[in-house]
Amino acid sequence: MEKDSILYVLTKSQEYLGKRQIPNPRLDAELILSDVLNLERIKLYSNFDKKLSEPQKDIYREKIKARGEFKPVSYIIGFKNFYKSVFSVNESVLIPRPETEELVEWVSKEISPDLNLEVLDLCTGSGCIGISLKKDFPNINILLSDISKDALVVASENAKKILPDEKITIIESDLFDSFSSDHQFDLIVSNPPYIPDAEKNTIMPDVLNFEPHLALFLTEPIHFYKRLLSGVMKHLKEGGSFYMETHSDWANIVSQMSNELGFKTSLIKKDLSNKERFVKVTK
Ligand SMILES: C[S@@+](CC[C@H](N)C(=O)[O-])C[C@H]1O[C@@H](n2cnc3c(N)ncnc32)[C@H](O)[C@@H]1O
Repeated sequence: MEKDSILYVLTKSQEYLGKRQIPNPRLDAELILSDVLNLERIKLYSNFDKKLSEPQKDIYREKIKARGEFKPVSYIIGFKNFYKSVFSVNESVLIPRPETEELVEWVSKEISPDLNLEVLDLCTGSGCIGISLKKDFPNINILLSDISKDALVVASENAKKILPDEKITIIESDLFDSFSSDHQFDLIVSNPPYIPDAEKNTIMPDVLNFEPHLALFLTEPIHFYKRLLSGVMKHLKEGGSFYMETHSDWANIVSQMSNELGFKTSLIKKDLSNKERFVKVTK
């Protein structure tokens, strides 16, 4: 194995990350190297003997060091594959999760492609839910909203990159506070923050130290969900549906609250890990 070859640097960085207890050291080393060399991951294998240039080595070393300090790979390489697209991410947005792909899949199965539905992705972060839906259903009008200005910059970049020819509206708002009172939707989808503060000490360091706490934690979950559901009640058209992702401990509470608020139906759906993860309510 020649020094500075692809195989050499992968082997060394795998050892380095392994010693630092990074869970998938080889995979992460390959993902980062493939990004630095702008070479598909699979092609690393047919180029094992190829040597890295000095600048490539310097950049790679810095990025591996960051991974050794638990920075998530998606923030290091700047993107995450989600559903059918590649989303840019940085530390202003949550890295989209596989459970949320399940949410998009579920909603997609229930949308009729011919309808010009008014759809809201509330708490949009990177824009992954709303942009994925608009990509599959060009007839819908999609609005993305979030309380974080910095997250909305990322969502807007993703909208322009993934759907350059489509109109996607973006609003900065604390839940529905900046919406006009008569603004109504056929469909609202949301993956709001849902980890209670009390669980902070159980969270892995790559999440806790790098992902935005505004996207993760809720100080007063009951108060937040009441505000959220009351807003949905006001801004959802009669017969419209609201789909949300939540903590498995909260699905029943959300469902119960929605019944108390007068929604017609509520349905809880489990994720692939068999946890009660999603709630659908209809008005
Ligand atoms: C769990 S992340 C979800 C991001 C994205 N939808 C996804 O599924 O990957 C929650 C998002 O809610 C936003 N958020 C937190 N509190 C909010 C509030 N009061 N009003 C609107 N957005 C809020 C955060 O900025 C963050 O982008």
